[in-house]
Amino acid sequence: MTTDTEYPELAEPYNLRLPYKPAVIVLPITNQHVQDAVVCAAQAGVKVQAKSGGHSYASFSSGGKDGIMQINLQSFQTVQLNENSGVATVGGGVRLGNLGDGIFTQGNAAVAQGTCPGVGIGGHYTHGGYGHASRNWGLAMDQIVGAEVVLANGTLIKASSTQYPDIFWAVKGAAESFGVVTTFYVQTRAAPASITYFQFAFTGIFNFKRVFTNTFLHIQDVAKNASVIDNRISFGIYLDNWGTYSLSGAFFGSVNEFNTKVKPELLRTLPSAQVTVQSMGWYDYMVKVSGEATIKVPLTGYDEHENFFAKSITVPESAGLTSNALNALYDYLKTAGSTQYYIIINLYGGPGSAINSKDTNFAAYNDRDSLWVLQNYGFGSAINFVNGINSAIINAQPQTSFGAYLNYVDPTYDAATAHELYYGDAVYSRLAVLKKQVDPQSVFWNPQAIGA
Ligand SMILES: Cc1cc2nc3c(=O)[nH]c(=O)nc-3n(C[C@H](O)[C@H](O)[C@H](O)COP(=O)(O)OP(=O)(O)OC[C@H]3O[C@@H](n4cnc5c(N)ncnc54)[C@H](O)[C@@H]3O)c2cc1C
Ligand SMILES: *[C@@H]1O[C@H](CO)[C@@H](O)[C@H](O)[C@H]1NC(C)=O
Ligand SMILES: *[C@@H]1O[C@H](CO)[C@@H](O)[C@H](O)[C@H]1NC(C)=O
Repeated sequence: MTTDTEYPELAEPYNLRLPYKPAVIVLPITNQHVQDAVVCAAQAGVKVQAKSGGHSYASFSSGGKDGIMQINLQSFQTVQLNENSGVATVGGGVRLGNLGDGIFTQGNAAVAQGTCPGVGIGGHYTHGGYGHASRNWGLAMDQIVGAEVVLANGTLIKASSTQYPDIFWAVKGAAESFGVVTTFYVQTRAAPASITYFQFAFTGIFNFKRVFTNTFLHIQDVAKNASVIDNRISFGIYLDNWGTYSLSGAFFGSVNEFNTKVKPELLRTLPSAQVTVQSMGWYDYMVKVSGEATIKVPLTGYDEHENFFAKSITVPESAGLTSNALNALYDYLKTAGSTQYYIIINLYGGPGSAINSKDTNFAAYNDRDSLWVLQNYGFGSAINFVNGINSAIINAQPQTSFGAYLNYVDPTYDAATAHELYYGDAVYSRLAVLKKQVDPQSVFWNPQAIGA
C-alpha cells in the first residue's frame, strides 16, 4: 500500500519523467498469489499491469496513470536451462543480464536479445526485442516457445503454438493487455565460440549536409547488398548532439572474413573512422555491449533511473530513407542547440535477416518488413525536440508509410494512433476480438492497451 515504508522505492519507475503512483503494489511469490491478485483487482474494478524490469519508456508497468494494481514479478527469478532441449525456463521478472549469464553458465547457451542488463524479459521479449544476434537468430520474441499466463478471470494457462495458440500469439506483441506471464519458455542456442565485434567511429560527418546524407545512403546501399550482407551480420548507427557518429555491430564469422569482405565495402567512400575489429568470446561480448562492468544484476533493490522522452520510426524495407529525409534530418538536428539527444538506427532487414523471415501469423508484431528501426531519444523534457526529429523525417518522405516499435513505446500517442502505428489495422482487429473474449472488462489496461 502507498503508506508502507517500501512503497516509495518500489513505485519509482525507470523513467522518472512519468512517476505514476499505483494504488497497490503486489509482490507475489507463487502463481497462485498472482491469480488471487488479478481476481481481487477485477472484483474491485482496479486496472492491472505486470512489472518485470520496469524499463517501459512510458512507465506502463506503473499503469500509465495513477491508481492501478502493479504486479511486481521480482520474486520470479528462475533461470533453468534444459541442456537436452536447449529450452530455458525463465521467470517473468528475470532481467536480460541474468538470463544471458545464467544460460551461458549452465550450458554455454545463448539467446538473441537487447544489450541492457537491467531490462526485463516481461516487456522486452513480449514487444519484439532487438540485439546484434537478431538478424541471425530472430527477435527475442521469436525464441519464446511457451508461456504460463494468468488471465483476467484468474485462470493460469500454459500457452504455446499448440495450447491456447491465439493467446500465445497475442502475448507476443501485446502481453500487457492479456495477462501476467509468470514463466517464459525460451529456445536457446549454442553460444558461438567467438564473435567478431566491430565499431567505426567516424569524424566530420556533421560538417556538411552532403556528407551526412551520403554517408547514410552508402551504408544503406551496403545493407541491401547481398554480396556483402547475410544473416550473420548486424549493426546499428549511433549519433548524438556531441557530434558522435559511429557504426557498431557483430559478425558471426572470423575477423579475417569481416576485414576482407564487409569492412572495405562499408568504409568505401566514407569519411575517416577510428576502426575497432575484435574477436571475443560470447560472454565477453555480452559484457562489452552492455557498457557495464558485469551483466549480473542484483535480484532486488535495482535502482537505476533516467529522465527522458523517446520515440521510434520503423522504415519499410521497400522504401528505405531517402536523401530528402536525410537532408531534412540534418537541417533539423542543426537546430538542437544545447538539447541533449541521441539517435540509434538499427538494421533489422536486408539480405538473410531472420527477423523478417516471419509474418504476422507468427506473432502480433507488425514490423517484419522494416529495413531500419530508429530510436529518437532526448534527455529531460526534450519532448518537442524529439517529436520534431520524427516530423522532419516523416514530412520529408510523405510517400512512405512509417510505423513505430513497441519496445520504444511513446506515451504521447492517443490509443487509436498507437494501435495504427504499432500494429496496423489487420493485427489490431484480431487482437481486439481476442481481447473481448479473454478480458471483456479490460482488467489489463494502460492508456494504449488493446481495447483502450
Ligand atoms: C537502458 C535501456 C536499454 C534498452 N535496450 C534495448 C535494446 O537493446 N533492444 C530493444 O529491443 N529494446 C531495448 N530497450 C527497450 C526495452 O526493450 C523496453 O523498454 C522493454 O519493454 C522493457 O521491458 P521491462 O520488462 O524492463 O519493462 P516493464 O516496464 O516491466 O514492462 C513493459 C510493459 O510490458 C508489460 N509486462 C512486463 N512484464 C510482463 C509480464 N510478465 N506479463 C505481461 N506483461 C508484462 C508491462 O505491464 C508494461 O506494459 C531498452 C530500454 C532501456 C531503458
Ligand atoms: C555490392 O558489393 C560489391 C562488393 O562485394 C560491390 O562490388 C558492388 O558494387 C556492390 N553493389 C552495389 C549496388 O553497391
Ligand atoms: C478463463 O478464461 C479462459 C480464456 O477465455 C477460458 O478458457 C477459461 O475457461 C476461463 N476460466 C473460467 C474458470 O471461467
